[in-house]
Amino acid sequence: MRLFLFYTAYVNRVAPPQNKKKDRIMAKSPAKNTNAQVAKHLSWALADTYVLMIKTHGYHWNVTGPEFRELHLLFEEQYNELFTAADEIAERIRGLNVEAPASMDAMLQHTQVKETTSIPNAQGMIKELLKYNESTRQRISEACDFAGEVGDKGSEDLLIARLRAHDKAIWMLRSLTE
Ligand SMILES: [Fe+2]
Repeated sequence: MRLFLFYTAYVNRVAPPQNKKKDRIMAKSPAKNTNAQVAKHLSWALADTYVLMIKTHGYHWNVTGPEFRELHLLFEEQYNELFTAADEIAERIRGLNVEAPASMDAMLQHTQVKETTSIPNAQGMIKELLKYNESTRQRISEACDFAGEVGDKGSEDLLIARLRAHDKAIWMLRSLTE
């Protein structure tokens, strides 16, 4: 009993500072985890953006037909916009102190955009770019929701801007199919 009382007195006196230190460490961990989780969503958005950029660039080179000039220029506008966006998303990942995917292999591991293996005709290109702008927009929307839920306003703001950019690309591509 005496030993128990001594132990209780010891714990009450010594334990609180230890717990405070532990609490401080615990308080930092969720933020670090949150950054890593937001960065994971951003990496998916980056990889989709990057591979879609390469696909759009390839179609800019290879498009043929009566609408050649119009599509050649539209695809150029879109791959340039995607290239700038990829840079912004990657730099946001770095801003969260996480490494950004930095190779084609890493991009292909993170993306859901299928690489071009054969060149479709002009209408096929438009349909494929429409499809992958929509799927990329969907993943960005999910990333945006997650950033909002965890209170990462910087990432959320960037991703909202990306939603607007994909809405514009989708509108332009869809208009060419109607
Ligand atoms: Fe060009």
